[in-house]
Amino acid sequence: MMDPMAWWHDAVAYQIYPRSFADSNGDGIGDLRGVLSKVDYLAALGVDVVWLSPVYRSPMDDNGYDIADYRDVDPMFGTLADLDELIAALHARGIRLVMDLVVNHTSDEHPWFVESRDPASAKRDWYIWRPARDGFEPGTPGAEPTNAGSGFGGPGWEYDPARGEYYLHLFTRRQPDLNWENPEVRAAIYDMMRWWVDRGVDGFRMDVINLISKTYPAVDGPAGPDGLCYDVNMVANGPRLHEFLAEMNREVGITERDLFTVGEMAGVDAELVRSYTAESARELGMVITFEHVQVDQASAVKWDLAELKLSKLKSVLASYQYALAEEGWNALYLGNHDQPRSVSRFGDDSEQFRQASAKTLATTLHLLKGTPFLYQGDEIGMTNAGFTSIDQYDDVESVHFYEQALTMGLPEAAVLFAIGVKSRDNARTPMCWDASPGAGFTTGKPWLQINANHDRINVVEAMSDPNSVLQHYRRLISMRHELAVVRDGVFELLLADDEELFCFTRTLGSERLLVMANWSTGSVPWPHGVPDISGARLLLGTHPDPGDVLAGWESRVYALPVE
Ligand code: GLC
Ligand code: CA
Repeated sequence: MMDPMAWWHDAVAYQIYPRSFADSNGDGIGDLRGVLSKVDYLAALGVDVVWLSPVYRSPMDDNGYDIADYRDVDPMFGTLADLDELIAALHARGIRLVMDLVVNHTSDEHPWFVESRDPASAKRDWYIWRPARDGFEPGTPGAEPTNAGSGFGGPGWEYDPARGEYYLHLFTRRQPDLNWENPEVRAAIYDMMRWWVDRGVDGFRMDVINLISKTYPAVDGPAGPDGLCYDVNMVANGPRLHEFLAEMNREVGITERDLFTVGEMAGVDAELVRSYTAESARELGMVITFEHVQVDQASAVKWDLAELKLSKLKSVLASYQYALAEEGWNALYLGNHDQPRSVSRFGDDSEQFRQASAKTLATTLHLLKGTPFLYQGDEIGMTNAGFTSIDQYDDVESVHFYEQALTMGLPEAAVLFAIGVKSRDNARTPMCWDASPGAGFTTGKPWLQINANHDRINVVEAMSDPNSVLQHYRRLISMRHELAVVRDGVFELLLADDEELFCFTRTLGSERLLVMANWSTGSVPWPHGVPDISGARLLLGTHPDPGDVLAGWESRVYALPVE
């Protein structure tokens, strides 16, 4: 059974992508003192947890998801003392801090990897080294040990002349994968985690954590058009994953110390998530899953666009609600630093519907059972970047894809269109605090272009409007704090096949909530097949004077009368 007392069950987490949040010194890059200047904003929003994307020392090949020193802050972001100050400032406001833990791989500049390149060193087995394929000259085309592809395109193996062997990198070649089979590696990681907990952090968001035990790297997988295998299922959820997660929990004291843990896992379904998050397993608190953010792609490749079918999205989300009803716990999200802006993707970012759709997406997500994750800027309904030229992009994944796709002969316009829809940079443009030229983010030249609509879509604007998306989020967050039925209520999906309405109930004892959300621009008549609302109390709505039709992107939450 799940721990009924787990503190994150009525918590809302807020993700900060530090490079894009607030810049304190005018160099155009967000930093820790910038975050410090916004702690009262976070407290006013009402969030309980801050997840800080990586601020560790890093050459920034993948914006800090390539770590060169796990125990230091990159000078770009500030100092360890700044981080200590931030932890204290958040704690003083009752907000906990969760660090990003990137331990599937390090940077190629991490001293462990530098040492491992020497075959005589004590760390020679700390990474995944393999000789060239039989019969091939090392370093020549096709000599990679297997056809494993990297998550960002191209081979997942890189030849290292110093070592005379290949190392595995499931992300960029500057992110070599650690060898978790080696007990010394695991011990070093747990030691580092304890060091952070002793410093005051309240938990970890664990980057691509189901890759630490690999079914690789023994064999070739099914090849795509470029001869490489990108199927995450060939790699993920290896045979020792449960063992490693349980060991980490024990060694770091995750359960004993009541730490917040959320593991990022591509290639899982609801049943697997239950096995990792069941209280009795003592592994993870919850899991960031991907099925629901893949419903708008036509294949395993994210750039392969498909139309979003609401029935499909609902069935995926509901499958997790049902599978984790009795044990385990959901992490709920529609956006983060790897996904496009949720309002542009799932909602409608036109002038007419942007605010209503941002609110309705929020209502739908926050009324599900689980811990909602709110990504910076979504609380004001920030939109996709609107970039039209490849020079505007920074993200290593987008730039790789662009180069690869053009090499393979795809038309540039189609490639730029797909990147415009799906690029991670959509979510990475600077946070818009006000209408000034630097959007209140920076006084200098921002590292990534500020969204052109920041004169309208910014925090100052949202604060002054009682009907803003921001105010709506504040109400949703307090509903979760105040109503046990939001935390614990049993979920039931209504009208599963409807392509416009997202409707469900949550029930706890005699308390019952009805959520009615119109995920379309047209008005929809009140449907049959939902509980009678006579005598119900409207707890939250997006539109004034709700009538007997649901207007475009309108949503409502009712408390049904006690029977
Ligand atoms: C995760 C991160 C992403 C990063 C990747 C490699 O998916 O969220 O930003 O690029 O892992 O570390
Ligand atoms: Ca800065």
